[in-house]
Amino acid sequence: MTQSPPKITKAVIPAAGLGTRFLPATKATPKEMLPVVDKPAIQYVVEEAVAAGLDDVLMVTGRNKRPLEDHFDRNYELESALAKKGDESRLAKVQESSDLATMHYVRQGDPRGLGHAVLCAAPHVGREPFAVLLGDDLIDPRDPLLQRMVEVQEEHGGSVIALMEVAPEQVHLYGCAAVKPTGDSDVVEVTGLVEKPEPADAPSNYAIIGRYVLDPHIFDILRKTEPGRGGEIQLTDALQQLAATHQSAAAATEKIGGPVHGVVFEGRRYDTGDRGDYLRAIVRLACEREDLGPDFKAWLRSYVTEEM
Ligand code: G1P
Repeated sequence: MTQSPPKITKAVIPAAGLGTRFLPATKATPKEMLPVVDKPAIQYVVEEAVAAGLDDVLMVTGRNKRPLEDHFDRNYELESALAKKGDESRLAKVQESSDLATMHYVRQGDPRGLGHAVLCAAPHVGREPFAVLLGDDLIDPRDPLLQRMVEVQEEHGGSVIALMEVAPEQVHLYGCAAVKPTGDSDVVEVTGLVEKPEPADAPSNYAIIGRYVLDPHIFDILRKTEPGRGGEIQLTDALQQLAATHQSAAAATEKIGGPVHGVVFEGRRYDTGDRGDYLRAIVRLACEREDLGPDFKAWLRSYVTEEM
């Protein structure tokens, strides 16, 4: 009897970064806690994992990240105060984040790069495929990406990354993929990867955005990955090795770690680590909210026509 592949249930969220682009707001508050309308940015990311069926969430944190743990935990004092007042709707909002997922935390200690943060998840993840979600990337909840990536992983095995076409002058801000087409219009096979290339060295304009579904073999590679761009252990470099091994062994029977595929995303994505994009995310999501949208849009229209 053949065993069906393990179902993906675990999500890893690296959250040890210092958030220097948002100083002074992030001096004493983790950048992940900055509100997008009225929810901290990180809650959207956990909700996205849960919506894709991953309700075991490991956050890789560091010093000064206690508010993250508190946000996803119960707050009995606040809950009983709201219950006493009979404020059911706010009570539900407070309880929502603690009921979302089973949360786990591990500390990165020494911030040695994204690859190193992912490696910190190895003892928790074990030998199953798992997802990685970067907190700075906010994917609009109406444009599901992770579900599609999980589906593609279930079909092809190996690892799956999220790709987005960007303008050539933007490529140096991202990991960049060399790809070839597959039978599915939104799926490509990744033949090579380079982290933040100079424009002349970019193999394409397919940029990696912060969603990954990874084969656990990535841990074995990360343990041996030398610091790369910026002196950091890069996840992109480890994925490049996975892709290269698969390409070279493609004809052989042993395909350690499996292929690397890319899902090409054409939906709405905001880089909440960038101040301009953070503001755009707030305006857009606020406009679309049933409770706030109508008034806010009316004000925005008059502001734009009268003041700008
Ligand atoms: C990281 C990855 C990069 C990827 C990006 C997506 O870079 O190293 O390959 O394109 O996330 O947001 P960072 O933005 O953390 O420097």
